[in-house]
Amino acid sequence: MPSFKTLDDIAPAGKRVLIRVDLNVPMEDGKVTDMTRIERVAPTIAELADKGAKVVVLSHFGRPGGKVVPEMSLKALVEPLAATLKKPVAFAENCIGPLAQQAVAALKNGDIVLLENLRFHKEEEKNETGFIDQLAALGDIYVNDAFSCAHRAHASTEGIANRMPAVAGRLMQAELVALDKALGTPRRPVAALVGGAKVSTKLELLGNLVSKVDRLVIGGGMANTFLHAQGINVGKSLCEKDLAGTARDILAKAAAAKCKVLLPVDAVVAGAFKAGAASLTVDIAAVPDDQMILDIGPKSIAMLKSDLAECATLVWNGPLGAFEVAPFDAGTVAIAREAASLTSAGKLLSVAGGGDTVAALAHAGVEDKFSYVSTAGGAFLEWMEGKELPGVAALVRAA
Ligand code: 3PG
Ligand code: MG
Repeated sequence: MPSFKTLDDIAPAGKRVLIRVDLNVPMEDGKVTDMTRIERVAPTIAELADKGAKVVVLSHFGRPGGKVVPEMSLKALVEPLAATLKKPVAFAENCIGPLAQQAVAALKNGDIVLLENLRFHKEEEKNETGFIDQLAALGDIYVNDAFSCAHRAHASTEGIANRMPAVAGRLMQAELVALDKALGTPRRPVAALVGGAKVSTKLELLGNLVSKVDRLVIGGGMANTFLHAQGINVGKSLCEKDLAGTARDILAKAAAAKCKVLLPVDAVVAGAFKAGAASLTVDIAAVPDDQMILDIGPKSIAMLKSDLAECATLVWNGPLGAFEVAPFDAGTVAIAREAASLTSAGKLLSVAGGGDTVAALAHAGVEDKFSYVSTAGGAFLEWMEGKELPGVAALVRAA
């Protein structure tokens, strides 16, 4: 694993510590609908405050495009953050300039202030030098605890780490350790389970995985493209027919790398993607022309279960079927529960990430039973693609 410094390497007492977190959480009518990211970052903030730091919290929210968009103010996050921390949290209505400077100057040891949305300034996403200088002037030490933003080379995630002592927070550290166990130096055999609608969004990921894992399970809509590429009729299913050649290339690359690819051997099909639509189970070679594949079938579930039982490590991104609508959630739920029970029995190290994936695991009631569930969406995908994450690279350079 690339080495980086952590909270263990700094003496934060009396220091102004700038901590980049990801408070980009789902909200409805001004209320946070999923507290996960807040709960996962709170221990780092609390640790710094308890050690006597003056804690300055930086985050973005949404994509305001460099303008002040009141609905994207981080002010709405003050109360949920304070409630989670069980500590008061002050707020500054700008992340740079006099308002930020005054709020930071007012901090006593152990105090916490949240600064307004970084992306209200276009210079944040441009990683602009003058903006980095203004942020850096607010602190003595930089802590990056936003793995889910590490795929962005922005001022607060990358630029600033080159400007001052820079270390990983506890959440960043946990994410990097877990991901390394999953794909960096995994116990083998290692399986990757990749689902979701489209092959086109996951081409690089599949290309990278076949050279790293021993088994690649392909599910969801993207499996249809692979089935079609092998001459199997997929009826009315979602299928990117123009990517058939690419799918065959990935299969050839997998064969050359001795990576076993597992595609569905049967499917649950229906005439339309609707709750309660009449569905039937068919062998994969017998999908009727007027039906669409919406889930893997029982033979595929049995096959994947026995395959998983042989594996030591699992990395999961993307659902196996249209899990949002019953009964097409059955395959995803069955495999998620199987992975969870193998994990509980100490037989499997399981790591999952990506927005849909976490929702699918929660739907199966097992999100707490995986070895590790990442808080990241896009960053998790880019990591699975084998890309260097600028936010992580900057911490490694700073170490
Ligand atoms: C996320 O939710 O994926 C992160 O907060 C990054 O947000 P972004 O995709 O707008 O950069
Ligand atoms: Mg994103």
